[in-house]
Amino acid sequence: MIGIFDSGLGGMTVARALEEICPGYPYLYFGDLARSPYDFKNTEKIKDYILSNTEFLLSQGAKLIIIACNFAASTAGELLKQQFSIPVLDIIQPAVVRAIQVTHTGIIGVIGTRATINADTYTTKIHSIQPEARVYAQACPLFVPLIEEGWCNRRETKMVAKKYLHRLRSKQIDTLIFGCTHYPLLNSVITPRIGKKVTIVDPSIETARALKSFLEHDTARAQELYTPEEQNRFFVSDLPEHAAQLARSIFGRSVTLEKAYV
Ligand code: DGL
Repeated sequence: MIGIFDSGLGGMTVARALEEICPGYPYLYFGDLARSPYDFKNTEKIKDYILSNTEFLLSQGAKLIIIACNFAASTAGELLKQQFSIPVLDIIQPAVVRAIQVTHTGIIGVIGTRATINADTYTTKIHSIQPEARVYAQACPLFVPLIEEGWCNRRETKMVAKKYLHRLRSKQIDTLIFGCTHYPLLNSVITPRIGKKVTIVDPSIETARALKSFLEHDTARAQELYTPEEQNRFFVSDLPEHAAQLARSIFGRSVTLEKAYV
């Protein structure tokens, strides 16, 4: 099975893209809702959470891990890659590569949680490939709580988005990276406010493409992982009332959320 984790349900946008782009592989999702959001927490604590999330997925039979959380990937992506012998993919590198491919002006915006933006991983990685790129990063700390609350289409959310995106608009970015797996759920709010000419890079899609190419190159592993008879499973460390509704709106079908204790 392919294990995926996030601090909450936002990483389900990655699971959705994986189902579409790499069908037939069984996915095991873990959303750490009991400890979400990770944004305002201490980095050492987050590393513990990430290790326990990974161990949980391994205990359920995961043979490959996808870190579907930008903050987790920037804080402990390398740690996981060193600590575990199975492949660990994260969502940052594929999005960086895509942004560099699609930008015409080299002026790239990144939005993410405060912790992800402070970690500066996107800017560092973009500059390691394209040093002359101009990268403008904007923290949007209210987006994750608004999304987890199911407020995606509320007037208040649109006002918050307008405020957050104002600076990036003024910098005339031509490409915008969603540096948080929750943000594709705000696509219809963000796109009109940043401007339709700006190309959006959605790391969920880029990650699914990266997995596809990984499996095309490692055919033995692809064969081992390809067990279409197995069902996808979705675990959460807490099950608030609105979770099932949010999961349904992400997948366009109802999904069974199972409670897991990590
Ligand atoms: N979806 C997570 C991300 O991609 C949100 C992290 C959080 O809980 O702060 O970064």
